Amino acid sequence: MPDPAVRLRPLTQEDVAMMRRFVVEPGLIGLDWRGFSDPEAPARRFAEDGYVGPQDGRLIVEVTGEAAGFVSYRAGSVSDVPQHWTIGIALLPEWRGRGVGWRAQSLLCEYLFTHSPAWKIEAGTHPENIAEQRALEKVGFTREATVRAAEFRDGQWRDGVLYGLLRTDPLRSSHE
Ligand SMILES: CC(C)(COP(=O)(O)OP(=O)(O)OC[C@H]1O[C@@H](n2cnc3c(N)ncnc32)[C@H](O)[C@@H]1OP(=O)(O)O)[C@@H](O)C(=O)NCCC(=O)NCCS
Repeated sequence: MPDPAVRLRPLTQEDVAMMRRFVVEPGLIGLDWRGFSDPEAPARRFAEDGYVGPQDGRLIVEVTGEAAGFVSYRAGSVSDVPQHWTIGIALLPEWRGRGVGWRAQSLLCEYLFTHSPAWKIEAGTHPENIAEQRALEKVGFTREATVRAAEFRDGQWRDGVLYGLLRTDPLRSSHE
């Protein structure tokens, strides 16, 4: 798919239904599925601050006017470096593998570095999530570590893969 017109925007009331799908449809979120959670939590969070908080938040990934999924950010992570974000992403299955994921994460990094003095952005993924590893590498992230027993998921403790992007690292433009 050549240069899909990807943009990030805050949620609207209409997007709450998609957020609800991610907590009630097993596996829709991908490997991060950890069982059911409160289906009303997305509506409450939207009512509270529109999902755009100072410590964590979500933005909609929009492609040619359609909501394709969301990106997320939260302050702090496995290390204690101050002014540090951890990001995440989940696209609806029909939007995966079309060049949207790396572009959306490039846009999110640009946004976070522009609007906060953060020195570093981290992203964790799963050893088997090749699409996310490639997407992060395409954005400009460096694979920094394997974190042993990083999460309990799908019946057992599993390793994670940690990626990092410094403010001074080259960031690939989402327009490429
Ligand atoms: C992971 C995810 C964000 C990647 O976004 P995407 O839009 O599917 O990926 P892109 O189309 O931007 O492709 C990025 C790179 O990954 C590669 N890729 C995409 N899907 C792939 C797959 N299924 N297997 C292997 N490589 C894949 C692409 O070829 C591209 O690399 P290249 O340019 O070097 O060839 C998306 O698939 C998704 O939302 N998956 C479910 C949720 C999830 O896993 N989130 C991350 C949790 S850590």
